[in-house]
Amino acid sequence: MRRYMSGRRARLWRGLCLAATLTFAVHPGVGSAAAEASYPVKSITMIVPFAAGGPTDVVARIVADSMSVTLGQPIIIENVVGSGGTTAVIRAKRSPPDGYTVVMGHMGTHGAAVALNPHLAYDPMRDFEPIGLVTNMPVLILARKRLDANTLGEFIELMRSRGESLNMAHAGVGSVSYATCLLLNSIVGTRPRMTAFQGTAPAMTALVEGRVDYMCDQAASVVPQIAAGTVKAYAVGTASRNLVLPDVPTSIEAGTAAFQASAWNALFVPKGTPKPVIASLNSALGKALDDDTVRSQLLRLGSEIPAPPERTPQSLAELVKSEIAKWTAAIRPANSEN
Ligand code: MLT
Repeated sequence: MRRYMSGRRARLWRGLCLAATLTFAVHPGVGSAAAEASYPVKSITMIVPFAAGGPTDVVARIVADSMSVTLGQPIIIENVVGSGGTTAVIRAKRSPPDGYTVVMGHMGTHGAAVALNPHLAYDPMRDFEPIGLVTNMPVLILARKRLDANTLGEFIELMRSRGESLNMAHAGVGSVSYATCLLLNSIVGTRPRMTAFQGTAPAMTALVEGRVDYMCDQAASVVPQIAAGTVKAYAVGTASRNLVLPDVPTSIEAGTAAFQASAWNALFVPKGTPKPVIASLNSALGKALDDDTVRSQLLRLGSEIPAPPERTPQSLAELVKSEIAKWTAAIRPANSEN
């Protein structure tokens, strides 16, 4: 090891060190190539836009556990609530595009929210990179146990006769529960009172306790309640009955075919996240969805697990685009009545 350098050599060495430092500082592309190749080198935050215990949170924790094993780094769930999930999505949009902040979005935050919030502070397509679809989640029409209607037909009659006095629970403008029950209200032609919660977990507690009258919620949080007999489920908004809720009729069987309501959950990162990082996250998600333990947990909650061709970032990008168009067409007229 040379112990001393001549004056000229020392100046040359210092110049080379400075040039290398500036290169990494000025052209992150050089440094980020190394960062991409070693991703992830630290824990990842998965933002959940709703309260703990709700369908979004439950699904997020199931897949995060498996993804963290594959990626070799902890995935920390952070529940960021408010404004129908849009507060969290704005936070995710503003996070560094380095793959260390992921958001669990859904049909509400990355679909219906565009029509429900004319001044939405993000664009689901422009401000995010899709990672992949996580689950398809049927939505059910629910009521408090003692409401005097035992079928969807009877409930719709009640909505028509007592619409304004009924209290509908939801998780904020932009949420699945708000968008899908807005669709139901529009079909029936009623304008109920509404109570917003920070997620459908607290909303479900209010429904079970009889503090609100009805709600439209995703199967993941309904299955345990139906098993416990704490709420009424009038119909599921999908073409066929749900495998874990075989006694709940479809909206078609119940006489209200216009109520077609199914949510989906999907992972997104901020725009500009490098492609190799997106590929790592997509691959870890795919492994989770193929894992037997994860699959049985999701299926037990009434989820439908996407087949591999539906799991690509491109297919999620196409889904977001079509869902924004679908719910904009469905909601704008309904929203104008509310
Ligand atoms: C939740 O996780 O609480 C729900 O997804 C909220 C909603 O979108 O209705």
